[in-house]
Amino acid sequence: MDRAFRNDLQLARPELICAGNFIAGAWSAGQAGASYPVTDPASGEAFAEVADSDALDARAAADSAAAAFDAWRHRPARERAQLLKRWHALILANADDLARLISREQGKPLAEARGEVNYGASYVEWFAEEAVRTYGDMIPEGGRGRKLMVVKEPVGVVAAITPWNFPLAMIARKIAPALAAGCTVLAKPAEDTPLTALALVRLAQEAGIPSGVLNIVTASRARTPVVVGEWLNDARVRKITFTGSTAVGKSLARDSAATLKKLSLELGGNAPFIVFGDADLDAAVNGLMVSKFRNGGQTCVSPNRVYVQRDVYADFAERLAAKVRALKVGPATDPAAQIGPMINARALDKIMQHVSDALARGGVLLAGGTQVQPAGAHGTTFHAPTLIGNASADMLLAREETFGPVVALFPFDDEDEVVALANDTPFGLAAYFYARDIARVWRVADRLETGIVGINEGALAAESAPFGGVKESGYGREGSRYGLDDYMHTKYLCLGGVE
Ligand code: SIN
Repeated sequence: MDRAFRNDLQLARPELICAGNFIAGAWSAGQAGASYPVTDPASGEAFAEVADSDALDARAAADSAAAAFDAWRHRPARERAQLLKRWHALILANADDLARLISREQGKPLAEARGEVNYGASYVEWFAEEAVRTYGDMIPEGGRGRKLMVVKEPVGVVAAITPWNFPLAMIARKIAPALAAGCTVLAKPAEDTPLTALALVRLAQEAGIPSGVLNIVTASRARTPVVVGEWLNDARVRKITFTGSTAVGKSLARDSAATLKKLSLELGGNAPFIVFGDADLDAAVNGLMVSKFRNGGQTCVSPNRVYVQRDVYADFAERLAAKVRALKVGPATDPAAQIGPMINARALDKIMQHVSDALARGGVLLAGGTQVQPAGAHGTTFHAPTLIGNASADMLLAREETFGPVVALFPFDDEDEVVALANDTPFGLAAYFYARDIARVWRVADRLETGIVGINEGALAAESAPFGGVKESGYGREGSRYGLDDYMHTKYLCLGGVE
């Protein structure tokens, strides 16, 4: 199903640009025939149109996933694994095209988009291998004449609702464990970035994933509540897996209560990054650059509050400022660009509000600070990499996730104080700290209230590790063997009469 699009993406396989829904093994326009535009954030131009689905489309997708579930769950795990491996191979074989799609609709530099393809593909490979390892258990103490056993079963139909910041990796790491576990899937990609997800589903179709097992519908911001609402009210949908804001996560938890769905919620963060006086400062600066400026800071695990012990504060700030000033902002078409545009005007407005609030409350501007217009880019959502010193707890950027290329440095004096400050947030996704004292390393790792802790390391993401938060950053884990459990029930079997 092709709609109008500007075919200047130079894909080796232009058929990877899909514009319709994929339901029950067929591509089609939404039932109402409506569409909405997809915008390139670097140019501000709409370059594609995709289906703007409604409740009928959502219902059709759920019918399809429900009908396909029984056959898929009973398919031998090794066969499910082989199909996932084929999908993985196709993702890698089409990595360049997928990266171009990611960059065009999301804005990140092409090299980073290529990295995202590999990152997303690694989850598909991981869960292909885990599909055959959904072990149960024997419980030795069963009482006379009884055998107690535990088996794992797929939860059923899963609705995967994914964000725009990693248009490929986030959807891959939800679909892959669901399919590996034997669940069928309804996917709804972010309204800003549907094309990568549609291409991914096209490749799953080519890999031979059977009809109905994986369905995808796209919808504009205005129609998303109707589509998701249909799934929330459908008792056949047994699980929602969502990555996005805490506000939406809470509403999904509330609205799915009527049918008590299983939920995985990967929500907002407000990550602290602590540099102790005994840290290797160059390593800390490099770790911060990697974790903060990945995807232009539009990453849930990006550090939001950087606490630096007072005796190394000036030295650290100087080393960091030099690196921040050297970052190049530009569209993905500029091979030297390291920071792309922000996803949309709302995102840029929030960043600018955080910067002006911080400066009005005594923050000191050490780099950047403004919206910028790189040469050759017509979009208006670029923001300079920004460093603010002398930050304090009363600033907006201390309480809310900025989700952009802004670093705020907060001086601190001692360990108890900084741990209390780091934990003083409703969020608990990731935290980072740099220190050499081994006793401190264990103490601080133990006391930080987050699901993920980077210790002397800024790059945390790995398909083999559990990703997820505590507190209002949500629950459930993605990646690793724990990530498969989230798509399975634990069933207890009690066999009597064994004398
Ligand atoms: C996210 O921003 O939600 C995911 C980032 C990651 O996978 O590291």
